[in-house]
Amino acid sequence: MNLIVAIDKNNGIGKNGDLLCHLSADLKHFKEVTTGKTVVMGYNTLISLPKSAPLKNRRNVVLYEKDIEIEGAEVCHSIEELFELIKDVPEDEVFVIGGAMVYTTLMPYCKKLYITHIDKAFDADRFLPEIKKEEWKVLDESEVMEENSLQFKYVTYGRKDI
Ligand SMILES: NC(=O)c1ccc[n+]([C@@H]2O[C@H](COP(=O)([O-])OP(=O)(O)OC[C@H]3O[C@@H](n4cnc5c(N)ncnc54)[C@H](OP(=O)(O)O)[C@@H]3O)[C@@H](O)[C@H]2O)c1
Repeated sequence: MNLIVAIDKNNGIGKNGDLLCHLSADLKHFKEVTTGKTVVMGYNTLISLPKSAPLKNRRNVVLYEKDIEIEGAEVCHSIEELFELIKDVPEDEVFVIGGAMVYTTLMPYCKKLYITHIDKAFDADRFLPEIKKEEWKVLDESEVMEENSLQFKYVTYGRKDI
């Protein structure tokens, strides 16, 4: 599986249940990368989406301990249940899309990381685990872009051991 996230200079990803900033180019990039794929998210991230609704044109899987029905999404109550559900989906078609709790649990299973690096330190309360240099190598790196006075770039990392 893969992971996609926007992080600040301190690996911050969110605050008070929301993103740290809104970059329309990054949201477009996220849509391009994930459309047609399976996206895996925690319940808090689902709630943070517009209308707290699953994403269109993607297979949505939500991790949540409680037994609820979510229209347009499949609910998994554990990592074991998740792996059973996606066992026939090609690995590169699964994207972990947050939040912090789910990134922390699933990052060890990811082969590629699609990171938007935002060149600013925000006041965050949720973080991505460290991207360790001994574990990850840069596969691809965009030029630096700017929107709303924020500089950012897209970097794809791959596991060093594969
Ligand atoms: N920068 C980005 O690209 C980005 C992307 C996504 C999200 N975010 C931000 O991240 C923040 C949300 O992150 P978060 O850590 O609070 O929440 P989260 O990871 O989205 O969701 C956590 C919830 O998911 C459920 N869950 C997680 N792992 C589970 C498992 N293994 N089995 C069963 N249920 C599981 C838990 O439900 P239970 O309560 O039932 O245990 C938990 O309360 C928000 O601020 C959001 O804006 C940022």
